[in-house]
Amino acid sequence: MAPESLPDDALTLEAVSHGFGAVRALDDVSLTVRTGEVLCLVGPSGCGKTTLLRLAAGLEAIQKGRVHIGSRVVACADLDIAPERRGVGMVFQDYALFPHLTVTENVIFGLHRLAFAERRARAREVLVQFGIAELADAYPHMLSGGEQQRVALARALAPKPHIVLLDEPFSGLDSRLRDRVRDETLHALKASGAATLMVTHDPEEAMFMADRIALMRAGRIEQIGRPVALYFQPATAFAAAFFSDMNRLEGVVRDGRVSTPFGALETRLAEGTPVEVLIRPEALHLAWAPEEEQTEKHYRTVARVLAARLLGRSTLIHLDLSQHSGAAHLHLHSRVPKHVAFGEGDEVAVTLDVSQAFVFARSDAATDPVRG
Ligand SMILES: Nc1ncnc2c1ncn2[C@@H]1O[C@H](COP(=O)(O)OP(=O)(O)O)[C@@H](O)[C@H]1O
Ligand SMILES: [Mg+2]
Repeated sequence: MAPESLPDDALTLEAVSHGFGAVRALDDVSLTVRTGEVLCLVGPSGCGKTTLLRLAAGLEAIQKGRVHIGSRVVACADLDIAPERRGVGMVFQDYALFPHLTVTENVIFGLHRLAFAERRARAREVLVQFGIAELADAYPHMLSGGEQQRVALARALAPKPHIVLLDEPFSGLDSRLRDRVRDETLHALKASGAATLMVTHDPEEAMFMADRIALMRAGRIEQIGRPVALYFQPATAFAAAFFSDMNRLEGVVRDGRVSTPFGALETRLAEGTPVEVLIRPEALHLAWAPEEEQTEKHYRTVARVLAARLLGRSTLIHLDLSQHSGAAHLHLHSRVPKHVAFGEGDEVAVTLDVSQAFVFARSDAATDPVRG
């Protein structure tokens, strides 16, 4: 069966809940992965990502809800199709290779549907794709962790599955190698046209790999959408803070606005709501402060530089706004995409990019978070 013979909705979980004793691992989760897309499930440790993937694979018996593959129900109250009959390729954290088989034999193992003569050629093709052709005759114990992981990925993709499930597939690799294997995997997945559901706890990895991201929190989906939507239109403070460090200010809604040192931000929250304002460090733009700068200008204020540190691709600047904001202590971070000449003690003009400032009802207050 070629990938195009599956409908657009390749894998669907419908109202799935799952518990382990008293632990509620998944709470009414619904999710669809479309043919050709990479959907990343991301969230903090213990939020239910692996459980969701194991249920999709058939490695965990379903308790409540349904799993569909294409138009076929593969798991529900009175049905649980075995993993090997679901037609999915998987790489889980413990990517067990067969120790007594060579790399080529490991990859060929999953190719029983191909004619015998074609198996070796297909195995060779994926080993070349993952840059491990020279390991074809090696045994798993002769390989590094990274090499084993690439073999596991090659083995999972060799049969051209319609659905690929990956659980932290790059976690055993050091950072340079991880970048390379991620890149190879992304292109191999997109070229295959498979529907991919990949678990990671790493927000940057999710953004690197994903066409769409499902952010999970405590067994539920907090927000699902394209990476750009989660980054620029986070639905909650949790979603906003998951993808980068954040500056936090507190305030109260007055006349549809929240005041900040950079001017007032508009919000649709109710009058008197206690709020937190989350500002990404890259939203604070810096310039030399001209003398007598009109600080009353919207979204602009003057700050003193406490420290500036080059982090490689960007510079992090620590700012003290106490003097100009009237607050007793106001320390914010600005991130700029290059090396800058600002140093300790400099006075700088700070401008806020309001598209990266988010107003939420304070989570310790009893109001629903609504985007400002
Ligand atoms: N086999 C199990 N037995 C008992 N509790 C489990 C088991 N598997 C997972 N859990 C619990 O379910 C919750 C979700 O776990 P998991 O799906 O592994 O999260 P994640 O992959 O997001 O880290 C956690 O509280 C975890 O401790
Ligand atoms: Mg996990």
